[in-house]
Amino acid sequence: MQTFRDEIINLLSGLLSVDRQQVEDDLETPPNPELGDFAFPCFKLAKQFKNSPAKIATDLAEKLPVGELFERVEARGPYINFFCSRKKLAELTVAAVLGEESRYGRLPLGDGKTVVIDFSAPNIAKPFGVGHLRSTVIGNSLYRIFNALGYRSVGINHLGDWGTQFGKLIVAYLTWGEDERLEENPITYLYELYVRFHREAEANPSLEEEARAWFKKLEDGDRQAQKLWQRFRDLSLTEFKRIYAILNVSFDSYQGESFYNEMLDDTVNAVEEQGLARLSEGALIVELEQEGMPPCLLRKQDGATLYATRDLCAAIYRQQMYQFDRMLYVVGADQALHFQQVFTVLKKMGHGWAQNCLHIPFGLIRFKEGKMSTRQGTLVFLEDVLDRATELAGQIIREKNPSLENKAEVARQVGVGAVIFGDLSNDRVKDIEFDWEKILDFSGETAPYIQYSHARICSILRKAGSRSDSFDAGLLVSEEEQVVIRSLARFSDAIVRASETYKSSIVARYLIDLARDFNKFYHQCPVIQAEENMRDARLALIDAVRQVLVNGLWLLGIDAPKEM
Ligand code: ARG
Repeated sequence: MQTFRDEIINLLSGLLSVDRQQVEDDLETPPNPELGDFAFPCFKLAKQFKNSPAKIATDLAEKLPVGELFERVEARGPYINFFCSRKKLAELTVAAVLGEESRYGRLPLGDGKTVVIDFSAPNIAKPFGVGHLRSTVIGNSLYRIFNALGYRSVGINHLGDWGTQFGKLIVAYLTWGEDERLEENPITYLYELYVRFHREAEANPSLEEEARAWFKKLEDGDRQAQKLWQRFRDLSLTEFKRIYAILNVSFDSYQGESFYNEMLDDTVNAVEEQGLARLSEGALIVELEQEGMPPCLLRKQDGATLYATRDLCAAIYRQQMYQFDRMLYVVGADQALHFQQVFTVLKKMGHGWAQNCLHIPFGLIRFKEGKMSTRQGTLVFLEDVLDRATELAGQIIREKNPSLENKAEVARQVGVGAVIFGDLSNDRVKDIEFDWEKILDFSGETAPYIQYSHARICSILRKAGSRSDSFDAGLLVSEEEQVVIRSLARFSDAIVRASETYKSSIVARYLIDLARDFNKFYHQCPVIQAEENMRDARLALIDAVRQVLVNGLWLLGIDAPKEM
């Protein structure tokens, strides 16, 4: 589409002698294909040409040379509508996809710019629950989306690896801990210890006292406390990384809350030196009354720092370290106030870049009643969700394709894909309800549906044998073919819109539509059975669809098995 857009911008900016940028900004995509592929509104020109927008549109449409790129250029009310040549569009699009392969859809918009994305950030000592699934998959897809647009993405896992809960864990471990169980299943076991601590502390409050003392020791650098903490952290991290690998997620940094221990005093001092902090009942706070917010707490009465102190410190450190143009915090909507406070304090400190820090909130995730048993009552373990999804996907695959060779691996890819897509296909800010049947429905608006369409194309291509490299995509001018081609041509648009709104759901929606368009086409138009030239052109077309499905699924962190 870019070729066509550029041509319109050239023509119009020349004819009107205005800035290219102005034409580019005003150029629209009509909501309805009957109004063309592009529309240029003439309202703004009325003043300059002292004429009605409709008259200007008519005049301009007459003067514009149609050229070989466009079939028609016509005025309609105050708009000039451009209709791309079907033949040209087909040729250019199919060639671009097949030529650029995995790079198709990418744009250099963010070249030289850095986006830091703070996501996932589970708390060690608590299990990796589904609550952190949302942040993980949304953050990962934004990471890839920005990366595809040329930005340097920096993924940071701000692990919850510090705080009083470690005092509790140390006490619990020293009192009831079993070494083998810790090694065997660290995340679950640490959670068990944590739950047990709370249960026993109800009857025996002195445990709380002990935990506080151990956390104090930890903060003071006590060898035994440090060693235990390090061990909990290492074991948990190994486990997290195993789960991240299943989800196709990786990070550039695991600098969590503990990383900032040594830097906190400097941060607090900087706030104080600016005269922004004051004592209130022994605690150090930054008043935010004027901004309509409760105060931001920097130190508790006992001198301990808080979550917000660490986030202030982390933001300043990251700005120095990465010189980011933007920093995104992919964290649940319930922390909106926290981030508003942190950003406001940064601004008050004179950090102009604080305006480039954004909280990307999301809603809650719920499971449809009775479908998911939980090990500890209320908490749903992420890994159990992934295992369950894999198991259900496996059942479906065994029914549909009993002879499939690598069933276990495909079941993983389909099950995990279903979970990721079940999350990402929803509007980020809404609460979502997880319904196993819905997310695994092979004909619904699901990852399995997209993956299945992809596998279907792979199977057609396999049956056809090798695809000829000399094909004439200009033959692809029927309605069904053109719908698919237009969809392919608009892939970058979807990525850009997703990046502008921080909504991966736009890419998810795009993929569903593309898969639907492909299936409709395939239902109407024979491919392998078509006459030779047509067969070659259509094989090239579906190969291009295959490529874009792969590229799009990649943006969401979802695999595309070749058979399923
Ligand atoms: N560990 C936190 C939680 O689970 C999320 C951390 C998000 N990142 C941040 N920089 N505060 O609630």
